[in-house]
Amino acid sequence: MKLTITRFNPSVDAKPYDQVFDVPTFENMTLLEAVMYVHENLEPISFDYTCRGRLCGRCSVMYDGIPVFACIQFVSEGSHTVAPLEGFPVIRDLIVDKRREQKAIADTYERVRIAPLTREEINSQMTTEAADKLRWIEYCCRCQVCTVICPAKKDTPQYMGPSRLLAVAYRHFDPYDQADRLLEAVAGGLWDCQMCGSCTKVCQNSPEIHHLDIWKELRADATARGLTVANPKGV
Ligand code: SF4
Ligand code: SF4
Ligand code: FES
Repeated sequence: MKLTITRFNPSVDAKPYDQVFDVPTFENMTLLEAVMYVHENLEPISFDYTCRGRLCGRCSVMYDGIPVFACIQFVSEGSHTVAPLEGFPVIRDLIVDKRREQKAIADTYERVRIAPLTREEINSQMTTEAADKLRWIEYCCRCQVCTVICPAKKDTPQYMGPSRLLAVAYRHFDPYDQADRLLEAVAGGLWDCQMCGSCTKVCQNSPEIHHLDIWKELRADATARGLTVANPKGV
């Protein structure tokens, strides 16, 4: 295959540039293996990975313009491109700096409590239904691939995007959380979501995470409280 890799070393290069490599393919070769081949045999490339099994999200890159996990993306003969994940500052070649967005996601996942949980609350408030909803969202590795593809995030910059909305939903479903997560979801653009399903399509954990069902449930709960787009504060 001919693999075009977008290269960039901010301390040396004025701007990113493309470099084409010939990579011999084999059956079920992954994009990560193709990049590794280049790195080990042709020219050193900066790229990131850890788990090699869709757990960490660190290998996320753009492959032919679509955000993917390089470790589970199969490659084929022909010409293909690989570039750093769109929308993030490039550290070098295929490695991007996701810290700002990841901090925002981590802050959102923080449980808000007025007082520490009591033993009685722990024993009485968590239902099987709530635990099930939380369990599936916990598959999210915060890779932000869904946010990269999200058209609402592109059209409406104030929209927090699917990876953060998922964090809001997680705490909304958490019976121990005491913040107004519905208000947070609506203020963050719940109604800006176009319900297109692209987040589910690109999410490598979508067998477990059902974004559209989660958005629908948030919208139903928001509607029940009068938190519609025209009335974001419910007043
Ligand atoms: S929902 Fe999926 S695509 Fe989005 S951040 Fe989580 S694991 Fe990544
Ligand atoms: S369904 Fe909503 S959150 Fe998901 S990609 Fe489409 S617009 Fe974005
Ligand atoms: S290396 Fe962890 S998801 Fe690809």
